[in-house]
Amino acid sequence: MTRRLGLAVLASGRGSNLQAILDSIDSGRLDAQVALVLSNTPRCLALDRASEAGIPTCCITRKASGGRASQLARIHDALVEADVDLVVNAGFNLILSSATVEHFRNRMLNIHPSLLPAFAGGMAPKPQRDALEHGVKVSGCTVHLVTDELDAGPILAQATVPVLDDDTPDTLASRILVEEHKTLPKVIQWFAEGRVLIQGRRTYILPEPVQQQTARVAG
Ligand code: GAR
Repeated sequence: MTRRLGLAVLASGRGSNLQAILDSIDSGRLDAQVALVLSNTPRCLALDRASEAGIPTCCITRKASGGRASQLARIHDALVEADVDLVVNAGFNLILSSATVEHFRNRMLNIHPSLLPAFAGGMAPKPQRDALEHGVKVSGCTVHLVTDELDAGPILAQATVPVLDDDTPDTLASRILVEEHKTLPKVIQWFAEGRVLIQGRRTYILPEPVQQQTARVAG
């Protein structure tokens, strides 16, 4: 029997994307298991959701770590120790160290509430507010691989929503969130099926598994 795809999910707040992952696993649409939920925010809803689901949690704050560098080093150690196949930034408001990004190269995802490369940077609801202020007619979310350049890694999937005349950042964010909850589990399932091929900036979702590994990197 093959091992289910092991996930570490990083979240700083509400954790609705974490919940979407857990619900997808529960309903059999996602063949993965969450081995660790890691947060940098004590007492956040994401940690409550994980505990509720019986998933090991870990909270690493800057304060308790004695500064940013040691916080990032502790997060690195926790993720390496968790020995997961994929790390998923699902509303995580901390930029990880280069060592962590390199360790999980092509195995770390982020979800961002805009159609990247537009409105990169910042946490929700800033990207949604920026999109509204810019006057775009279509927005959405992007799931991408994490690289050292913020919100600029190879794109795996995007989903679009219309921007309505009476939208506020909150109404737009809610409409995008509905798509986020479908898109993130879908991308993780592609990894579970070994169907993600990465060639430079281009990614391809193949009809059949690439190999017995998380993703194949070519070129
Ligand atoms: C989501 O909208 C996610 O796309 C966004 O934070 C929200 C987290 O919601 N991420 C970013 O803005 C990353 N730059 P959640 O905690 O309910 O999943």
